[in-house]
Amino acid sequence: MQKNSLIRTQSYVNGQWVNAASGKTFDVKNPATGELIASVTDMNILDVRKAIDAANDAWPSYRDLTAKERSSLMKNWLTLILEHKEELAELMTMECGKVLTETLGEVDYGVSFIEWFAEEAKRVYGDVIPAQTNDKRLIVIKQSIGVVAAITPWNFPLAMITRKVGPALAAGSPVIVKPPAEAPLTGLAIAYLAEKAGFPPGVYNTITTTESSEVGKELCENKKIRKLSFTGSTPVGKKLMSQCASTLKKLSLELGGNAPFIVFDDADIDAAVKGAMISKFRNNGQTCVCVNRFFAQDGIYDEFVEKLSRAVAGLRVGNGLDKDIQVGPLINEKGLNKVKHHVEDAIARGARLVQGGKHMSGLFYQPTVLADATQDMIIAKEEVFGPVAPVIRFSTEEEAVQMANDTDYGLASYFYSKDVNRCWRVAEALECGMVGINEGLISTVVAPFGGVKESGMGREGSKYGMDYFMEIKYLCFGGIK
Ligand code: SIN
Repeated sequence: MQKNSLIRTQSYVNGQWVNAASGKTFDVKNPATGELIASVTDMNILDVRKAIDAANDAWPSYRDLTAKERSSLMKNWLTLILEHKEELAELMTMECGKVLTETLGEVDYGVSFIEWFAEEAKRVYGDVIPAQTNDKRLIVIKQSIGVVAAITPWNFPLAMITRKVGPALAAGSPVIVKPPAEAPLTGLAIAYLAEKAGFPPGVYNTITTTESSEVGKELCENKKIRKLSFTGSTPVGKKLMSQCASTLKKLSLELGGNAPFIVFDDADIDAAVKGAMISKFRNNGQTCVCVNRFFAQDGIYDEFVEKLSRAVAGLRVGNGLDKDIQVGPLINEKGLNKVKHHVEDAIARGARLVQGGKHMSGLFYQPTVLADATQDMIIAKEEVFGPVAPVIRFSTEEEAVQMANDTDYGLASYFYSKDVNRCWRVAEALECGMVGINEGLISTVVAPFGGVKESGMGREGSKYGMDYFMEIKYLCFGGIK
């Protein structure tokens, strides 16, 4: 087992660290080295039901705390997370391969959601509605939705938890976190810090499991859970949505993307390359908002491909814990095989390999640029989730927008142009939830994160984020004299 004082191997339920009733455990390995980091409890639905019951029992007294009391528990938690920033970042790098500079950034990104929603807790305002008769007074209040389940992904082991539990805890809801089997240790580490922060037993629960389908189904179908928030793939999101139908559970889904990145003839090409590098190669291409398809206009096509390839050739690939490394490994064999398959398919269909294109060793793949890509290649249709940049040529603005929108997904889009009229036109025409205009990094706590079409529903973060964890109740006072 590797050294890190935050490593916890049991699940955290009702204020206790517990084993699975079956005694089963599973191994967590470092994708950069293949080394075992730890073995953690493998819970089944019976274990999970206990966590749900505990959370439901904790709900009334937790929601009755004042907003200020909930807020100060959250602030204790964020202080503890920041005090352990380096250790948490190292743990994340060990379990998901993301490079250390990015995991250090993720701790800050993660706590920003706790801080933001700890403040928002105090501003859950209602409304007074002018009545249509003098004997009535109409009021709207907002109340905690009830127990929230958060199913979170391996690519952001910390921030995707805090982006979901931040508003839930602020609104007065106990939480059940199911971190991913690939990278559960950060989730357990922050549960340990939540315990230290003083959340009452049952308010903050974290369960680890490899039985994702069964446990996910229970989280969807159990009536005591009132809200499910999931970040992950579109096929899994669809399955969870159909399972949630049985209890008409409220849902937030942040699913896959197929982000276009359009570079127009009138763009600042150097700025576009800089934005492309951030939005494509962040976390080795393994984020939902990473660019999947580049589109470059005829007039600048060759220049963009050439400059992008040069920048990509300079990326340093290796173990994310090593100094100066910019790109880590893929998360697992399945991810690696997908990348290989997408590149092979693109080349077979006529793409020109300009940079990279080879498996290095273990789970490492060379950052890659493919020119002369087309929309019929698998890489243009499916999320590659890896370090491959296919560049498609286009002639007109209409053609670029049409191709960009020609996908079932609609999470993030990016484009570069210096023409302000075009900026408005294209931003409004793109079918997605978020647009980067002359910008490759758009994620921030203060803005609403989420997608349209098959990229999901609901928004996380920002002033809109809290509403997804609250119910609106209308009060009609009659007989007023
Ligand atoms: C994600 O990949 O799901 C989240 C990316 C982000 O918050 O920037």
